[in-house]
Amino acid sequence: MNNFNCAYIICPICGKPLEQSGSSLVCPIRHTYDIARQGYVNLLPVQQKHSLSPGDTPEMLAARRLFLNQGHYFPICADVAHALQEIPGGVSSIIDVGCGEGYYTEQFLRLFQSARVIGADISKAAVKMAASRTKEISWITATASHLPVAEGCADAVTAMFSLVCEEEFARVLRPGGRVIEVTAGTDHLIELKRIIYDDLFEQHKRPKPVTGHLKEIGCEKKNFRMTLNGGELKNLLQMTPHTLHVRPENRARLVSIPSLDLTVGYFVRVLELPQ
Ligand SMILES: C[S@@+](CC[C@H](N)C(=O)[O-])C[C@H]1O[C@@H](n2cnc3c(N)ncnc32)[C@H](O)[C@@H]1O
Repeated sequence: MNNFNCAYIICPICGKPLEQSGSSLVCPIRHTYDIARQGYVNLLPVQQKHSLSPGDTPEMLAARRLFLNQGHYFPICADVAHALQEIPGGVSSIIDVGCGEGYYTEQFLRLFQSARVIGADISKAAVKMAASRTKEISWITATASHLPVAEGCADAVTAMFSLVCEEEFARVLRPGGRVIEVTAGTDHLIELKRIIYDDLFEQHKRPKPVTGHLKEIGCEKKNFRMTLNGGELKNLLQMTPHTLHVRPENRARLVSIPSLDLTVGYFVRVLELPQ
């Protein structure tokens, strides 16, 4: 039988706590959710699902796993870990929203070993893949706008290249808890974009203004350089939405390059639920 840590996890239909019974999670009024063999639970009711298979394609997920496992983006984890360490009162519960195939979620568990960590994503395929990383994380299929977790239970919510639903994140944070958000900057992978797009319109990027449920207490622009070979460039392209738009000849041009220096440019923004 799969053991699933359901602390803080609530029924997405009635909001009551879930408890494990055999290989299912069950709420007091008997809404029942099976724990999949792979160790995740689907807590996305059909009415919250807006497309048949939302999120990245299986090819994009596989490329993301290969690329991230090589550690190219570890400096981003280190920046987020630093922001997590600065949360007053410490971090014993983290929800990684839009966790994808789980690279960052697993890194957060390794860096904050005593924390309870939940990885949530709207894509069942992503969560299924994430669950193969470790059973120490509660992996759930859920939408960021209706997280099936109890009010005020989280010290931190992370949104790594994912979306922030301010009101919902404010609901699940304890007073003084923080959202750490990472978004791509204007210069992110600019060298790759110049190769794959014939007419590149360089959009000025910044995180969206806050709506008032959370207070922005910092936003740092960061960047570092990495050098990738043709195989690594292929995975990088394949894991991003660029892969859906690039012309075949431009894809071929990119992967034939023996090595390319790239900028990884991003914002680390910190939002707090006031005490
Ligand atoms: C660019 S990927 C980032 C994945 C992961 N955080 C990473 O950086 O490797 C964005 C993720 O957000 C998920 N996502 C999109 N809309 C979502 C929603 N409404 N609720 C939860 N996850 C969502 C997608 O399925 C996808 O896995």
